[in-house]
Amino acid sequence: MHMMKAIAVRPGQPNSVHLAELAKPNVNQIPNGRGVLVRVLKVGVDATDREINDALYGNAPPGYNFLVLGHESFGIVEEVGSAVKHVKPGDYVTCTVRRPGGSIFDMIGRSDITSEEIYYERGINLLHGFLTEYYVDDAEFVVRMPIGLKHLHVLAEPMSCAAKAVQQAYEAQRRLQVWDPKLAFVTGAGQIGLLTTLILRLRGLEVYTFARGEAPNLKSEIVSGIGAHYVSTNQKSLKDVAAEVGRPDLVVEATGSSAIAFAAMEVLGHNGVEVWTSITGGQRTVQVPADNLNLNWVLGNKLLLGSVNANRRHFEQGIADLALGEVTYPGVIERILTTPVKGIENYKEMMRLLVEDKQALKVYVDVAEG
Ligand code: BGC
Ligand code: ZN
Repeated sequence: MHMMKAIAVRPGQPNSVHLAELAKPNVNQIPNGRGVLVRVLKVGVDATDREINDALYGNAPPGYNFLVLGHESFGIVEEVGSAVKHVKPGDYVTCTVRRPGGSIFDMIGRSDITSEEIYYERGINLLHGFLTEYYVDDAEFVVRMPIGLKHLHVLAEPMSCAAKAVQQAYEAQRRLQVWDPKLAFVTGAGQIGLLTTLILRLRGLEVYTFARGEAPNLKSEIVSGIGAHYVSTNQKSLKDVAAEVGRPDLVVEATGSSAIAFAAMEVLGHNGVEVWTSITGGQRTVQVPADNLNLNWVLGNKLLLGSVNANRRHFEQGIADLALGEVTYPGVIERILTTPVKGIENYKEMMRLLVEDKQALKVYVDVAEG
């Protein structure tokens, strides 16, 4: 049997990242001719992988004492089953992360909003990820990437989460009958914050994107490059900016800090929506001005919305927006892709960069040429 190398952790055991071995998958493992065998080219890692390696999050698949990491994938199709029509060998693809459980939402292709407590996510929870040499999956989950976006590779998955967050906000705001948002605050200028800023700019909103570091820096340059305003929270608070430019119609929170998620609630405008996207695996507690928040939330008919993961349609929307972003703000988005690591064997360096390199906006592994 051909074996492949993989980057794995032992969930529950802090800092257990290591090299594991897996059998090379076969296209016929997926029934009814629906298999797609993909050769992995690049895989991105993010704060979720860091939290999994810190043993704050994630579970191994049943029967394994390790979990292969990696949920931001980019690869090239090697072989397809007889029923697969939408991709063919040689196509570039990414892959969705979550797999269906048993709820009605799972059955209609919306596992991203499963109502079950247990969720199955490749590289995160109960399913192996993509940080290996090949993977096979059902055609339903394999999403084609146009060749002209090859240079944005691993951004497809974080983009899908940003696309879902924005789409859900618009969908939820139909409660207002007319909603024509003009002003958005995005907290956090990591990959989700930056990609959300892009989507909102493409929808014509004025966007203020908040992060700690003082401009100029790479984040501030990317934010200005997509026509948004970068604000360093060392210099101005959310409240300062709201006092200057008005309260936002939309807040998208993507800092990874639950404290900021609550703080941002204090600036949202009437009829506004705040979307939380951060995965905070810790146990932090904060004090909040509860009466005040409650009062203003009621008097302003405000909405707080959580958004996780993304299904196939969000991937497709995200990819379409990456394409629009490329022609609108040429050369800017790829600047997120700061920090490649060569080869699966360099897993220690991958984790070191993910944990220590504060300049790295995006660490990704160059698994193979292609
Ligand atoms: C992934 C999502 C996933 C979420 C929760 C994020 O890092 O990008 O696909 O649903 O973590 O596990
Ligand atoms: Zn992620």
